[in-house]
Amino acid sequence: MRLFATGRALRVNSARWSIASPRRSLIRIPLSHRPDALAVPRRALSSTAIRRTDEKATGANGTIINGQSYRKDEWTNTPETILSHVGRRLYLDENHPLAITRKLIESQFPTPIYGNYSEQNPVVSTELNFDVLGFPLDHPGRSRTDTYYINDKTVLRTHTSAHEQAYFQQMNRNEKTRPEEVGYTLVADVYRRDAIDRSHYPVFHQMEGARLWKRPETEPLKHSAETAAAIMKDVNSIPAHDVAVEDPNPTFHPERNPLQDGQHSVEETEAMAAHLKRSLEQMVIKIFTEASKAAASTAGAEPEPLKVRWVEAYFPWTSPSWELEVFWQGDWLEVLGCGIIRQNLLNNSDVPHRIGWAFGLGLERIAMLLFNIPDIRLFWSRDERFLSQFKAGQITRFEPFSKYPACYKDVAFWLPSASVSSGSAAGGAMPVHENDVMEIVREMAGNLVEDVQLIDEFTHPKTHRKSMCYRINYRSLERTLVNEEVNDLHEKVRGKLVDLLSVELR
Ligand code: DAH
Repeated sequence: MRLFATGRALRVNSARWSIASPRRSLIRIPLSHRPDALAVPRRALSSTAIRRTDEKATGANGTIINGQSYRKDEWTNTPETILSHVGRRLYLDENHPLAITRKLIESQFPTPIYGNYSEQNPVVSTELNFDVLGFPLDHPGRSRTDTYYINDKTVLRTHTSAHEQAYFQQMNRNEKTRPEEVGYTLVADVYRRDAIDRSHYPVFHQMEGARLWKRPETEPLKHSAETAAAIMKDVNSIPAHDVAVEDPNPTFHPERNPLQDGQHSVEETEAMAAHLKRSLEQMVIKIFTEASKAAASTAGAEPEPLKVRWVEAYFPWTSPSWELEVFWQGDWLEVLGCGIIRQNLLNNSDVPHRIGWAFGLGLERIAMLLFNIPDIRLFWSRDERFLSQFKAGQITRFEPFSKYPACYKDVAFWLPSASVSSGSAAGGAMPVHENDVMEIVREMAGNLVEDVQLIDEFTHPKTHRKSMCYRINYRSLERTLVNEEVNDLHEKVRGKLVDLLSVELR
């Protein structure tokens, strides 16, 4: 089962892992950022608007994030290494590839219809991240093995959809002052405890967007033909394109992908789906046309003709729902998740008389292929050899400046007898979960680890104890590591595995 469109999946079903980087049978995990003492170089910030949010301070001795103190409790599992990423706001640094990608996407959702926003504070309530969107209580995305909790009621957002309600409420508040702004995009950093590889990192960025239409306040379904006609008028103002689109399924399907019965008519659903599909196709075609131009400029080849396809999907707050995939360099790549927003969410967000669609996508994945960036850790680099290669408004191919030698070390251990290694139920206690192993390596070695692979696992035939062996590949993006340093890091990892997970080293 996949939990989100933009990256997270349950490892039990490796077949549905990201199409962008097909999962090998081994689990490879490059690890997180190490806070370093280098000052942030001052770079120009661009002008995406910041929506104001209320931040609530809590008692002393809490976790301090953005100058606010948050209470800690037994749910707290967010380490300093992760918190050190808060506030970098790479998407505003106008010569940074994430900002260039953000701008390219925003250009497809222009004012005055769409407001383009960013959300600075990654701390959100579990209510906004999960409950308001209809995530069931036992949804695995709520698990402490998958999500960074600040405390039982507060998390680092796992997706930008956590802000949907706030943006719908804002649209209602601005109804008189900005009536023409009926949609938005927003960009923000998101956080997931995850098994990751060269294209996965515990902190990444998403963009979210939505578009709403008003309906008559009384008996909207009686007037649904007019509502649908108004939406179709907007559909017809989106320029047509000539890219091949595979869309084999009906717009909705009673079992697999239902329309919201009793809430939306067939015509309304068809019209919103047409608007959503045309708008998102247009955006994706823009991005991938730029990407194939950049690729062809270095490869010297003719750009490949583009192909896109719509796939049925499921998200708790939209129905029907889809994913949009693009055929890119020989593979179908998932680019975004989207759907018709559940009326329940709109009713609870001060816009009961509106209907509409929403989407969300991961920025790094798109930026990696636009700029040919081979390792997701590079986005966090403060190295001028990386940063100086990119310029606002230009899609250029990244020239690797060097590849420093790798140094791998194995660690093998017995799991504590009662534990299982493959995940835990939502919330509650944490047995040994692979994400916990990853988190320890991240804590100790930060960005000096390129990936971690599970290279062996077996169960002892007599004792039934389970043994795991991980290979940790240490490599800096910026310098050659000396042996002593790696030995030291590895010893620390081994020690922490014992201290925190009660494993027995072999
Ligand atoms: N939040 C989803 C994710 O992280 C992406 C997404 C799907 C956003 C559907 C949406 C949506 O707004 O309607 O994968």
